[in-house]
Amino acid sequence: MARVALVSDIHANIEACDTVLADIEARGIDEILCLGDVIGYGPNPRECLEKAYSFQFSLLGNHEEAVLYYAEDFNEKARRAIEWTKEQLNSPDYDKESNYRIWNYLDGMERQRVWNDVLLVHASPRNPTKEYLLPQDVRNPEKLTGIFDALDQNVCFCGHSHVPGVYTEDLSFQPARELEGGYRPDDRKCVINVGSVGQPRDGDPRACYVLFDGTTIEFVRLDYDYRTTMEKIRAIDSLPDFLADRLARGK
Ligand SMILES: [Fe+2]
Repeated sequence: MARVALVSDIHANIEACDTVLADIEARGIDEILCLGDVIGYGPNPRECLEKAYSFQFSLLGNHEEAVLYYAEDFNEKARRAIEWTKEQLNSPDYDKESNYRIWNYLDGMERQRVWNDVLLVHASPRNPTKEYLLPQDVRNPEKLTGIFDALDQNVCFCGHSHVPGVYTEDLSFQPARELEGGYRPDDRKCVINVGSVGQPRDGDPRACYVLFDGTTIEFVRLDYDYRTTMEKIRAIDSLPDFLADRLARGK
């Protein structure tokens, strides 16, 4: 199998997005699978969606779901950011065709996909757009067992929590930073969080994505110019400053 790149949670961060896409291109990889949340939080939703048009596909994330349908489970600040994002995607400053194309693209996003016998979702096999699977869940056997019971395949890739690493059905989590030689799935079911391109939350501010050749999963981390992204967020009233601050901390 030719190597593919799995990206997720770009979150309208064009600086991180461009850095990751340049790295993927430099490796000669032309298949990019995206696990959702291309938009939300960040200052460049249109630009990031335009990049996503060239991906193999992009799944529906909770932020796309929120701009398309409702934002009921978002707090007030997050909802303001969603509203701002929606305004950008409807902006009269652009021609109608490009706005239609954006909304058609969002509308066509699938909630999950089985690809080469691997399940792809934004959040979890049990709830493809909303459920957070986090490292501390290894101490919650009921939750983790429920999630693995919902997984019919041996391997699942997801995003959503922005914490990269590998969960296995025997209640373990290995963070990406401990998997330098990559991870090779064995007979234990596993859920791999590919991390976040545009808003990492594992204490490492570098953009994160995954390479997969059918056998080995490799996490890639890349420095990018987060200061520029931070400045753009601070200049937009509807985007709260903490969305900028967290980019420097990777939290
Ligand atoms: Fe996200």
